[in-house]
Amino acid sequence: MHAAVLLNEVVEFLRPARENGTVVDATVGLGGHAEALLSRYPAIRLLAIDRDPRALALARERLEQFETRVAFAEGRHEKLIDILRQSQVGDGQLSGLLADLGVSSMQLDDASRGFSFRFDAPLDMRMGPDSRSAAELVNTLDEHELARILRDYGEEPMARRIARAIVERRAEGAIETTAQLAAVVRSVKRSKPHDIDPSTLTFQALRIAANEELVGLDRFLEDAVSVLEPGARIAVISFHSLEDRIVKRAFKRLEGECTCPPGLPVCGCGKQELVEVLTSRPVTASEEELNRNPRSRSAKLRVAERV
Ligand SMILES: C[S@@+](CC[C@H](N)C(=O)[O-])C[C@H]1O[C@@H](n2cnc3c(N)ncnc32)[C@H](O)[C@@H]1O
Repeated sequence: MHAAVLLNEVVEFLRPARENGTVVDATVGLGGHAEALLSRYPAIRLLAIDRDPRALALARERLEQFETRVAFAEGRHEKLIDILRQSQVGDGQLSGLLADLGVSSMQLDDASRGFSFRFDAPLDMRMGPDSRSAAELVNTLDEHELARILRDYGEEPMARRIARAIVERRAEGAIETTAQLAAVVRSVKRSKPHDIDPSTLTFQALRIAANEELVGLDRFLEDAVSVLEPGARIAVISFHSLEDRIVKRAFKRLEGECTCPPGLPVCGCGKQELVEVLTSRPVTASEEELNRNPRSRSAKLRVAERV
C-alpha cells in the first residue's frame, strides 16, 4: 500500500478553521491524507480533486465509508476556482487545503504508464488525459527546446548533448518506448557504479514538461489562498527543489514581502499580507518515517495560515 508522506504533520497542521467547514484535497491520489483528515476531524466535508481518473476511482473506494462527507472532482487543481463553483461544496470558503504535488508511487510503479526507465513500456508519462505524452514531446520538439526542458526541469548537466542525440536518433524512426529513450541517453552519458541511472534526470524533466507540473502552480497557490477563510491553512508538499522554490516564493509574496526591483523610490508591487507562514523552514520526514518509507526522503512540507 502506498504510504502517505508526512501524514501526522499534515493532519495536525490542517486543523480546520471551522469544525464543520470544507477542506480541499487538491491531489487526492490514493486518498491516504484524505482518509486521515476525515477521520481526525469528524465534522468536516472534503472535496477530493485529482487529474488522474484511475487515482480518483481508487480514492472513491477507499473513502466510501465517509459517504456524503466526501465529493470528488476530476481535473487539474489549477482550475480550483471553476471546480469549486461547479461542485457547489460548502459556501465557497475553505477551512483548509492540501496539495501533495507531483506523481504518486502508484503512478510511478505502474509499468504500463511509462514513467520509469525501470520498466520497458510506451513512453507515455501522462498523469491524466489532459496532457501530451512524453513520446509526443520527444518526437516533435526541436533540439533547442528539448535541451531547455532537460536543463530547466531536470537540471541535467548534459542537456545539449542528450537533446542532440535524441534528434539524431529520430532520423531512424520515432522513439516510442522507455527503453529506447534510456538507450539514447546511455549512448552519451555513462554512469559510474553507485551513480543514479544516467536517464534519471531526463525522465524527470520530460515528466514535468509533459504534465506541465510547474505551469500554473503560482496561480493555483494564489487562487487557493483567495478562497481560504481567516485562520484556515494551506499545506503544500513538494518533491523536488524546482517545485519547492515556487511554493516558498509564492508564500513569501502572499505574506506581503515587497517584490519591487531594488532602488524604486516607492513600492509599486501592491504587496498585501494575506497569510502568515507557519514553517520558516520546510518540514521534512522524521528518521522513523525515512526508515519506513524511503520515498519520503525528498518531501518538503510548507504551511501558511490565512490572516
Ligand atoms: C503524491 S500523489 C498524492 C498522494 C495522496 N496525498 C495520498 O495520500 O494518496 C499526487 C497526486 O496528484 C495528482 N496531481 C498531480 N498534479 C495535479 C494537478 N495539477 N491537478 C490535479 N491533480 C494532480 C496526481 O495524479 C497524483 O494522484
